[in-house]
Amino acid sequence: MIFDTHAHYDDAAFDADRAELLNAVHEAGVALIVDPGCDLESSRAALALAEAYPFVYAAVGFHPEELAKYPGSLDGIRALAAHKKCVAVGEIGLDYYWDDSRKDEQKALFRAQLELALELQKPVIVHDREAHGDCLEIVSDYPALRGVFHCFSGSAETAKELLRRGWYLGFDGPVTYKNARKTLEVLAICPRDRLLLETDSPYLSPVPLRGKRNDSRSLRYVAEKIGELWGLSGEAVAALAAENGRRLFRV
Ligand code: NI
Repeated sequence: MIFDTHAHYDDAAFDADRAELLNAVHEAGVALIVDPGCDLESSRAALALAEAYPFVYAAVGFHPEELAKYPGSLDGIRALAAHKKCVAVGEIGLDYYWDDSRKDEQKALFRAQLELALELQKPVIVHDREAHGDCLEIVSDYPALRGVFHCFSGSAETAKELLRRGWYLGFDGPVTYKNARKTLEVLAICPRDRLLLETDSPYLSPVPLRGKRNDSRSLRYVAEKIGELWGLSGEAVAALAAENGRRLFRV
């Protein structure tokens, strides 16, 4: 079974062929997908896809890059999270690569959404870009919370701290890139029961599709690369990651 735990099919990059593509992806063996929202509008769109396609689930939340759209209250997100196909709060977190001038606002929004997830008893999908120390510090304040660090790009040391606290780690196309050394070190210490496979479609296409629009069918390249490291087939890696995803997101 293949479970893409992070794909933005609500993105405008799929406007021309979304329905055909989702059907093709499902026919190609992708059994489950989580589409995380990035603001109110895309969270709503992700839920609409989840309503239309039995194999699609949604997460709802404000991505740090969408800070400017945050209305100052999570009431809208809280209302959307009540939908039966909303499986997580996400995509939430900190992104200091995109903008490091509003760190305090990013942190406050991140904390508010972690508190919402705790209240709703849902896992979270964390976006951490060049903010590893602050993300670790903040999630450590919520020990009852579980979730995934999506497209994990921190060090093996940071990974160990997260794993010790019960977090899952998500891996995407970049594991197939030439500069993946740090991520391969993380994979070497990642337990088999904490790995999730993601595409982050339409972004992050793996080699040999790098630069093209991504979709969930490319997950096999990520699984095969991890299989080489772990001495397993790509199918075996995909199967254990799918089991992990079903456990975390309860689908
Ligand atoms: Ni994403």
